[in-house]
Amino acid sequence: MGQLFRKVFARLKALEKYPATLYYHLKDLIDSISSSQIFISNRKDTRNASMLLLIHSLEKGLSIVSGGRKFGGGKAETLAKLALECSYVDSNSPIVALSLSALKQYIESPNAELNANLLSNISALNSQSKASHEPPISGVKSISPCKFDFNSLMNFASSRSSIRNFSSTPLKQDQISNAIKFAQTAPSACNRQASRIHIFFKKDIQRILDVQLGDQGWGLYATTLFVITSNSSYFNTTYERSQALIDGGIFSMQFLMGLHAQGIASCCKMYVRTPSMDHKFRAVTNIPHNEIPILLILAGNYLDHEVSVPASWRFPESYVSFIHNS
Ligand SMILES: Cc1cc2nc3c(=O)[nH]c(=O)nc-3n(C[C@H](O)[C@H](O)[C@H](O)COP(=O)(O)O)c2cc1C
Repeated sequence: MGQLFRKVFARLKALEKYPATLYYHLKDLIDSISSSQIFISNRKDTRNASMLLLIHSLEKGLSIVSGGRKFGGGKAETLAKLALECSYVDSNSPIVALSLSALKQYIESPNAELNANLLSNISALNSQSKASHEPPISGVKSISPCKFDFNSLMNFASSRSSIRNFSSTPLKQDQISNAIKFAQTAPSACNRQASRIHIFFKKDIQRILDVQLGDQGWGLYATTLFVITSNSSYFNTTYERSQALIDGGIFSMQFLMGLHAQGIASCCKMYVRTPSMDHKFRAVTNIPHNEIPILLILAGNYLDHEVSVPASWRFPESYVSFIHNS
């Protein structure tokens, strides 16, 4: 009887979580819809995303050598139109320059579908685009298999552990920039590159950790806090509804490795929040509403003596991999 009662009680207790679960999911849904690419709440981001998607499509078409099938006419036209539109508000945009570079390569292709409208928009774009930086490269590049030694890479990856103790010596700006460049080697869905890094230093760490849940004390030893976000205006809310999180996760891992390669200690911290905390977090950090925080990374230099960390055992390969060979 006592056991039955405990079982029923446990079930009822679990029900407690339903309203909160429903509320949190609904809030995520509303946030996601109001900033997604479909609903155009942020014209600049959604247009950039559309241009990157179209450039990627044209690059894929250009990279496929087999067959002489015509491709990409409609996409090139839309890209030229969007890039021209964008160039009127931001003639220095690297995405405008990248679009122009992709379009120029496209029209040179024997498989391009050309028309007068496309050519005249490209010509207008050519005079409008004023990108002052390096002309971005689009189109195709040649690749052969990498000769990197697997064991070296394995040793490097296995030598990373989450570190929760740090010295008080701050990180150098160039170390941070190196890690960001390394993170940018991460692949992203259709090369949209929607991940962003917000960087905060010692003096701000406490007030940021205070507006999210689950601070375990150690975060305050860090000298730098990185908040990795993903811009949800770069994705649609239907087939791509989880993609911002996936791309952000891949980018974050690469960033961690970029820190590790430079001898920087770091530990991820889940961004645990209620909707009201999320509101406060954004007020304190100034992170816009269309960027989803993926995780926090607390980092700093190592102490000058060895530190103990959790052993963090990993499953045997057979627990995580399944060969399907029917
Ligand atoms: C997305 C993510 C969130 C994490 N959140 C926390 C956290 O809130 N607190 C913490 O102490 N460690 C956190 N960690 C660190 C994990 O505990 C750690 O990565 C895991 O135990 C494996 O250990 P290792 O990083 O040393 O290999 C997080 C790691 C990841 C990837």
